[in-house]
Amino acid sequence: MATSVNAVALDESLMPEPVVHKQAKQTIDPYNVSGEVGEDGVVKAIDYNKLVDEFGTKKIDDELLARFERVTGKKPHHFLRRGIVFSHRDFEAILDRHERGEPFFLYTGRGPSSDSVHVGHTVPFEFTKWLQDTFDVPLIIMMTDDEKYLFSEKRTIEEVQGYCSSNAKDIIAIGFDPAKTFIFSDFDYVGGAFYRNIVRLSKHITLNQARAIFGFNESSNIGRIHFGSIQGASSWASSFPHIFGEDETKTVGIPALIPCAIDQDPCKHLMLVGSVSRDFRMTRDVSSRLKYQGKPYAKPSLIHSLFLPALQGPGTKMSASIDESAIFMKDTPNQIRNKINKYAFSGGKVSVEEHKELGGDTNVDVAFQYLRFFLDDDDELEKIRVAYEKGEMLTGELKAICIKELHTYVAAFQERRAKVDDETVKLFMERRPLKWGGNPRAPIV
Ligand code: TYM
Ligand code: TRP
Repeated sequence: MATSVNAVALDESLMPEPVVHKQAKQTIDPYNVSGEVGEDGVVKAIDYNKLVDEFGTKKIDDELLARFERVTGKKPHHFLRRGIVFSHRDFEAILDRHERGEPFFLYTGRGPSSDSVHVGHTVPFEFTKWLQDTFDVPLIIMMTDDEKYLFSEKRTIEEVQGYCSSNAKDIIAIGFDPAKTFIFSDFDYVGGAFYRNIVRLSKHITLNQARAIFGFNESSNIGRIHFGSIQGASSWASSFPHIFGEDETKTVGIPALIPCAIDQDPCKHLMLVGSVSRDFRMTRDVSSRLKYQGKPYAKPSLIHSLFLPALQGPGTKMSASIDESAIFMKDTPNQIRNKINKYAFSGGKVSVEEHKELGGDTNVDVAFQYLRFFLDDDDELEKIRVAYEKGEMLTGELKAICIKELHTYVAAFQERRAKVDDETVKLFMERRPLKWGGNPRAPIV
């Protein structure tokens, strides 16, 4: 592998593996996230504007943020202020409902594919918690244990069910309010109203459509082909009568707001299997064609965040199965320090002299990018950006700040995680009415 200029850090011991690829276009799908590769063979940062254009979602602009602040009376989360949560479908419709005092709910999920979540996974959940606190509405979290069985050659059902309960503990440790949050496993919850909705959805999707949307072929197992209707049916409030009430003429009109990262969105590139957000685009399409006793189904709204890049640099995705690619929420302070120092891609220059003269590139620097996600203080972040870009701050110093912030973030998480036991999981996963203070108080019957 040739060494690229960008990949070289200031201090030999801090030098990350250079990321050098054959020249290629930007590709993004659930299994393949990488930025465009330039002539020098170095991966560029993912161009998120291009993504918004290609996916036909809407960019979150200053006007929408101003409206958000007016409507909620709350300063937008730093993910919103910094363009980390950057695109949406029909988020305005949710703000309209909030203003009119009409109900909606939050829906998100996790595919339990391994025992520990990484810092990237916490991004949509942190944001979802903040939305829950802001809007004071019910939150539904789906654990797609069935998906992780169907979409893997090796995993057994017992294995994914084990991951399901440890991942649920990690999610609970983010700080969700049990009075307003229902977590469920597909294996356990399918049946009744939820299953009726799954079947309604699947009846409106032909094999041809599923193939065109997700790229299935004759060899795809039929469980995979059907799975999208399970994930999609959770965006309908009538799937949860214990929360929203039994009367479907009332519940069909209650929409979900679904936070997720952009890999979950449709794209034109070749994919082996479909993504979650293709699924929601499909669900939105079916919703607009469905009625229950003359009442139209509400279409889910979506709000997208970008990726926390892997340690290897911009344009790469953290993987739960590659230890060196990610900081895990169970990592020790030492592991975190070593991973950042050893692997975090640097935007610094080859030598200290050159760095002081030309400055570093914060757009590709992983330590800086992590600070954008995890350092709440705007002024502090701006100071660091300016100092690094001017060459006043060196890579080692920037990494030290990043390590300190990650230590604080992960330690606080681990402290909360230690308090979550099987009883807590049972509480969150029990079918029960929820209580919330937002638009109309529960239950809506
Ligand atoms: P899963 O388990 O692959 O991912 C869970 C959530 O984490 C997001 N994510 C990331 N966000 C930022 N940076 C990263 N590096 C990163 N890696 C993962 C994902 O986008 C996702 O939001 N089938 C789904 C589970 C699911 C779901 C949903 C997700 C069911 N219903 C509704 C979102 C919304 C899955 O396997 O997610
Ligand atoms: N997790 C895989 C993906 O994101 C599989 C998957 C999720 C999927 N949802 C789906 C496949 C809906 C088909 C339909 O692509």
